[in-house]
Amino acid sequence: MDKQYVLGIHHVTSCVAGAQEDIDFFTGIIGQRLIKQTVLFDGKTPIYHLYYANRDAEIGTVMTTFPYRQAGVKARRGTGQVAVTSYSVAENALDFWAKRLRDKGVKTTGISRRLGQSVVAFEHPAGLEFEMVGDDRDGRGGWVTDEIEDKNAVRGFNSVTMSVRDRIEQERFLVDAVGMRKTAEDERYQRFELGEGGPGRSIIVRHDPDVPQGSWTFGEGTVHHVALAVRNDAEQAEFRDYVVGLGYTDCSESKDRNYFHSVYCRSPGGILVEFATSDIGFAVDEPPEELGQSLLLPPWFEPRRAEIVAPLEPIKVPLRRAA
Ligand SMILES: [Fe+2]
Repeated sequence: MDKQYVLGIHHVTSCVAGAQEDIDFFTGIIGQRLIKQTVLFDGKTPIYHLYYANRDAEIGTVMTTFPYRQAGVKARRGTGQVAVTSYSVAENALDFWAKRLRDKGVKTTGISRRLGQSVVAFEHPAGLEFEMVGDDRDGRGGWVTDEIEDKNAVRGFNSVTMSVRDRIEQERFLVDAVGMRKTAEDERYQRFELGEGGPGRSIIVRHDPDVPQGSWTFGEGTVHHVALAVRNDAEQAEFRDYVVGLGYTDCSESKDRNYFHSVYCRSPGGILVEFATSDIGFAVDEPPEELGQSLLLPPWFEPRRAEIVAPLEPIKVPLRRAA
């Protein structure tokens, strides 16, 4: 492939349990900014779709969740999924995070090392695995809260870790289709990077040959997919043709997600990988300073607002902070 279509991580989407519990975790404990309240655009059951990001709501910092307890569906963790979602923080902030997570009653292992990086591993209330990675290369703007100063704030995604039973075909997909290169490897882990590499441009593959495959449906407690960024509709279409031409035929048509357009491809290791455009953004339906303050529906759902909103768990969202 001559052209580099894929730019880095766009967002990560996970199915969590309760909506309020999720908001309290990401905004209160992790210190991400709630940037969008909307609903799942697919399926028949109304489910929130909550978006959290950094100060500037930048692509590559966006964690999105479907609080699936509402539908009573649980998922099964396993291979063929993104197992770990990793944020960057300053190397000097790791002690702060190890202590803060413990003090807040979050399950955490303290500071450990993997693939040459220092990390604090911890768990979301729905059982999802997360990490804070000490990485001073990440200069994106953090969201400051009453408890988290700028020097300790989460910058954005550092990487995601994909768990696979067989890693050879997953490597081929990441290298040949996505355009990544392998930059580090040990017995269990391989790191792949895009372009200039580093935070937001890294994917780790974890070899778990004896772990059964996890579920693929929407359901509480699993990462549903990782989205990688492409520039716009035209490049997304060219890239989709290229990927399908390589033999990865399990790719959807482009779908309108209101804030981006998305093509979903099932990768050989089982992980769903979305390729999302980067040229629309989150200020398309509310002013940048008011992101996340009210429940927004795409134009095609607006006529059904009362029916969609009625079953949703009532939530309290954090008040907007002055910049
Ligand atoms: Fe997505």
